[in-house]
Amino acid sequence: MGCFDHLYAFLFSLTAALPLLSLATTSVVPGSPLTDGVTIVSPGGVFELGFFSPGRSTNRYIGIWYHNFSASTVVWVANRDAPVPDTSGSLSISGDGNLVVLDGRSRVLWSSDVFLPAENSTAQLLDTGNLVLRNSGGIAWQSFDCPTDTYLPGMKVGLDLRTNVNHLFTSWKSTDDPAPGNFSMGMNPDRSTQIFIWGNGKPLWRSGRWNGQIFMGVEGVLPEYIYGFRLSNFQMEGVMYFYFNSNSTQRYVLTSSGIDRQLLWQNDTNVWKEIWAQPTTQCEVYNRCGANASCTDTENGSAPDCSCLKGFVPSSGGCVRRAALNCGTNRSQAGSEPDRFYQMQGLKLPDFSDWDSASANASQCEGSCLANCSCNAYSFVTGIGCLIWGRELSDIHVFDDGGNDFYLRLAASEFVDKKSTVSLFLILVISIPTLAGLVLIWLLWMTRRKIRALFNQPKRDHEESAKGNDGVETETGFSSMLAEDAGNGKGPEWTIFTVEAVLAATKDFSSSNLLGQGGFGPVYKGLLPEGQEIAVKRLSKGSGQGMEEFKNEVILIAKLQHRNLVKLLGFCAQRDDKMLIYEYMPNKSLDVFLFDRSKKRVLDWSTRCSIVEGIARGLLYLHRDSRLRIIHRDLKASNILLDAGMNPKISDFGMARIFGNTDGNETATKRVVGTYGYMSPEYAMQGLFSVKSDVYSFGVLILEIVSGERNSTYQHPLLSLNLIAYAWKLWNEDNVIEFVDPTIRDSCLPNHVSRCVHVGLWCVQDRASERPTTATVIAMLEGGTVDLPNPRQPTFAFERGARVNDLTDLRYISGNSLAFTILSGR
Ligand SMILES: *[C@@H]1O[C@H](CO)[C@@H](O)[C@H](O)[C@H]1NC(C)=O
Ligand SMILES: *[C@@H]1O[C@H](CO)[C@@H](O)[C@H](O)[C@H]1NC(C)=O
Ligand SMILES: *[C@@H]1O[C@H](CO)[C@@H](O)[C@H](O)[C@H]1NC(C)=O
Ligand SMILES: *[C@@H]1O[C@H](CO)[C@@H](O)[C@H](O)[C@H]1NC(C)=O
Ligand SMILES: *[C@@H]1O[C@H](CO)[C@@H](O)[C@H](O)[C@H]1NC(C)=O
Ligand SMILES: *[C@@H]1O[C@H](CO)[C@@H](O)[C@H](O)[C@H]1NC(C)=O
Ligand SMILES: *[C@@H]1O[C@H](CO)[C@@H](O)[C@H](O)[C@H]1NC(C)=O
Ligand SMILES: *[C@@H]1O[C@H](CO)[C@@H](O)[C@H](O)[C@H]1NC(C)=O
Ligand SMILES: *[C@@H]1O[C@H](CO)[C@@H](O)[C@H](O)[C@H]1NC(C)=O
Ligand SMILES: *[C@@H]1O[C@H](CO)[C@@H](O)[C@H](O)[C@H]1NC(C)=O
Repeated sequence: MGCFDHLYAFLFSLTAALPLLSLATTSVVPGSPLTDGVTIVSPGGVFELGFFSPGRSTNRYIGIWYHNFSASTVVWVANRDAPVPDTSGSLSISGDGNLVVLDGRSRVLWSSDVFLPAENSTAQLLDTGNLVLRNSGGIAWQSFDCPTDTYLPGMKVGLDLRTNVNHLFTSWKSTDDPAPGNFSMGMNPDRSTQIFIWGNGKPLWRSGRWNGQIFMGVEGVLPEYIYGFRLSNFQMEGVMYFYFNSNSTQRYVLTSSGIDRQLLWQNDTNVWKEIWAQPTTQCEVYNRCGANASCTDTENGSAPDCSCLKGFVPSSGGCVRRAALNCGTNRSQAGSEPDRFYQMQGLKLPDFSDWDSASANASQCEGSCLANCSCNAYSFVTGIGCLIWGRELSDIHVFDDGGNDFYLRLAASEFVDKKSTVSLFLILVISIPTLAGLVLIWLLWMTRRKIRALFNQPKRDHEESAKGNDGVETETGFSSMLAEDAGNGKGPEWTIFTVEAVLAATKDFSSSNLLGQGGFGPVYKGLLPEGQEIAVKRLSKGSGQGMEEFKNEVILIAKLQHRNLVKLLGFCAQRDDKMLIYEYMPNKSLDVFLFDRSKKRVLDWSTRCSIVEGIARGLLYLHRDSRLRIIHRDLKASNILLDAGMNPKISDFGMARIFGNTDGNETATKRVVGTYGYMSPEYAMQGLFSVKSDVYSFGVLILEIVSGERNSTYQHPLLSLNLIAYAWKLWNEDNVIEFVDPTIRDSCLPNHVSRCVHVGLWCVQDRASERPTTATVIAMLEGGTVDLPNPRQPTFAFERGARVNDLTDLRYISGNSLAFTILSGR
C-alpha cells in the first residue's frame, strides 16, 4: 500500500535498536506496562502489538500489525481517536483490571471498559491477531469483538440478535489518521443476511442476500472466495456474522474511501495482492439509478446506463408505473384482467425483500405474490426460497455474469402484443426490403468470391498482412459475428487460427499426434511456436456436427470461464475446415483411466471424490452461475478431461443449450442427441430436457466413478443387474463398500462412499422432479447439513434387446432408425 512507509522506516530503526526488548515481553500483566518502543509478539511470531505512528502523523497509537512482513500493515488500533501526542504513552492493566492506554501524565486515553469482578487480568496477543484480556473469570474482553477497519480470519463479530448490537467495521479517516472515518461496514440491521457498507450513515453498497453459498449481489465472485466463505448459524448462535477460515494470510479491509478490499499476502513477492474489491463499478454503488430502474455498467466506466424497468416511465422524481396494477379493483368487472409477471434475468435482486416461508416452489411463490396487493415482484431463489417485494424496487444491477431471475408484476395491459395490432402491413414494409437486401448481399458475396479467385495472389498478401506474429488471423466475418456475441471486450480472450498455423502445430495432422476420436471428429495434439500445447478438435465433414453445432460450441464456450470447464483458446473456420482449439489436457479424459484395468488404480478414492466435486462445480456454474445458464446435454466420462493435477474439466459443448426461460422448465426437442447410458428417461423417451437431465447424467457418472464400471455395458455376472440396479441393491443392503471399484477399496472411507452412492441414486431418479438440483448436490457432497431424502428405486433402464454393448459412444440423432427418436417432440 505504501501508506506506512514512514511507519515501517520507524519500526525498522526501532527493532534494529531494541531487538532484545521486543522479544522479551509476550503479554501485558499488572505492574509492568508496555511502554512506547517496546512491543509484544504473538507466540508463533505472526502478529506484533505496540505503539506506532501512521503515515505522516507523529501521533502515537497502540496497534496490532503483522510481525515480520516487509510491508507493515496495521490491522487493529486501540486508541484510534485519542492518540498520545508523544512517546510517553503506555499500555497497562489498570487497577480495576481493564486494559488502558495512558499518556505521559497517566491520564486514561482509552480503556477496554468492561466490568471485571476479579482482578489479576493479563492481556495476551494471539497468533490470530486477537488481543485477549483474561482474568480468573475467563476471557473478559478481546480485540476481535471491537474491530476497526480490518476483518481477519477467525473473527466472529456481527449483529447480535439478542441485544440488537451491531458491531461495525469503521474505516480510518485517512492513511495518516486511524480515527473513525466516514464509512462503516456490517450486517444489515434488518436481519436480512446482507452485508452493507454505509457512507456517512447512508447505504453505499450491499452484498445481496446470502443463498447458502454466495452473496447473490456480488458479481463474478471467485470460487475460492465462494467456497471459503460462510455465514454463521445465527439461529443457533444468536449472532449473525460472516467468517472464513483460511490457511493463507488474508484480510478484508474497509479503506478510507469506502471500498471493501480482500487482500492476500503473496509470500514470494512480499506484497498484498487484491483479490476482490467492492464497490468498484458504478452500478455496484447502492441504488445508483434510483428506485424502479435498472443499472447496467458501460464498458468504458463512464456514467452507467440507467433505464426504467419495463412498465415504468420516467417522471419528475424517478420511474413510476405506467398502468396501475389490477389488484384491489373488482375482478369480476368487465375488461379487468389479472396482473401478470415480466421476467428479468441475471439481476442483483432489489433490496427490501421479504421471505415468504409458506411458498415452497416457484408457482406457489407467484400465486402468493399475485394474491397480495402490496406485492410488486417475486423471485424464487435456490437456497432461500420465495422472496417477495412489497416496497419500492431499489438497487437493481444487471449483471454481466450470473445473477438471479426476477419476476416483476405488471398490469396485463403491458403485455399486449403491439406487433399483432400493427399487423401484416408492417411485416410487409419491413420484410420486403430486408429480403431484397439479403439477396443483394448474397449476390455481392458470390461475385466477391469470383473476383478473389481471379486475384488469388493479392488476396493472400492481404491475408499475410492481417496475420499476427504467429500466423494468427485477426479478422473474418465469423469472428466479428462472434465478437458481437461474446460481448465486446469483456469476453474471454481467444484467437482465430489460420489453417496453416494449425497444420504447422499438428504436423499436418500426423497420426502420431492423434489423441482420440471425439463425437464429431478426431482430436489432435499440437504445439504452437511459442511452446504452448494445444488440442485441436477437427470436425469431420461427414459428421453430425454442422455449422450450427460449431457456432453453438464456440459461442457457448467462449463465454464460459470456470476452472472446471475446458478452456477454448481459439478456433479456425476457413473454407470447409472447422476446428476448435483447446488447452491441452495431459491426462486426456476420465474414461481413459476409469475404465482401464491398469490405469484405474491411479484414481484413488480421494482423487475420485475431488473429481466428482469438480464436475459438480462446473455443472453448477453452467446451470446457475453463468449468465447464460446452460444445459450440457451430453455429460459423460469421455467428456470429462483431466489436467496434470487430475482436476476435472467439462468439455464438448456441441450439444449444449441455453435455457433462458424459467427455472428447470422442460424444453422439448425433436433432435434427441446424447449418449447411451447417460440419458434421462424423459429425454430419451420424449425429447424433454432440463437441468434435471444433466443431473441424471451426473448421477450415472458418480456411480461410474465409484464403481469403475461403465453404466452402458455393465451387467452383474450373477445377478443380471445393470449398474444402477446393482447400486440400488447394495445401498439398500447397507453394503455400498461392495460397490466400490475393488482396486481402490482399501483407500476409501465408508461414510463418504455411502454419501456418494446416495447422491448418485438420488440423481438418477426416474422423475425429474425428484432429482436434486446441482446446488443441493454440492451441499450434500460437501457433507452439509442437508437432509438426504431416501431415493426411490430407479426403474428406468434401456432395453438390452439390441445388444448394443459396444455402442457406448453412439449418438442417437433423429433420422436414425433407433427407437426413441420416433417418440420425440410433444
Ligand atoms: C515470519 O517469521 C516466521 C518465523 O521466523 C517464519 O517462519 C515466516 O516464514 C516469516 N514470514 C514471513 C512472511 O517472512
Ligand atoms: C493473582 O495471581 C497470582 C499469581 O498467579 C496469585 O498468586 C494471586 O493469588 C492472584 N490474586 C487473585 C486476587 O486472584
Ligand atoms: C466525510 O464526510 C464529510 C461530510 O460529508 C466530508 O466533509 C468529509 O470530507 C468526508 N471525509 C472524508 C475523508 O471523505
Ligand atoms: C488448513 O490447514 C488445516 C490443518 O493445518 C488442514 O486440515 C486444512 O486442510 C487446510 N486447509 C486448506 C484450505 O488448505
Ligand atoms: C509460501 O506459501 C506457500 C503456499 O502457502 C508455502 O508452501 C511456502 O512454504 C511459503 N513460503 C514461505 C517462505 O513462507
Ligand atoms: C462511454 O461510452 C458511452 C456509451 O457506451 C458514451 O456515450 C461515452 O461518451 C463514453 N465515454 C467516454 C469517456 O469514452
Ligand atoms: C417506484 O414505483 C412505485 C410504484 O409505482 C411508486 O410508488 C414509487 O414512488 C416509485 N419510486 C420512485 C422513486 O419513483
Ligand atoms: C365486485 O362486483 C360484484 C358484482 O359487480 C359485486 O357483487 C361485489 O360486491 C364486488 N366486490 C367488491 C369487493 O367490490
Ligand atoms: C408447488 O407446490 C404445490 C403444493 O405443494 C403443488 O401442488 C404444485 O404442484 C407444485 N408446483 C410445481 C410446479 O411443482
Ligand atoms: C403481502 O406482502 C407484504 C410485503 O411483502 C408483506 O409484508 C405482507 O405480509 C404480505 N401479506 C400477506 C397476507 O402475505
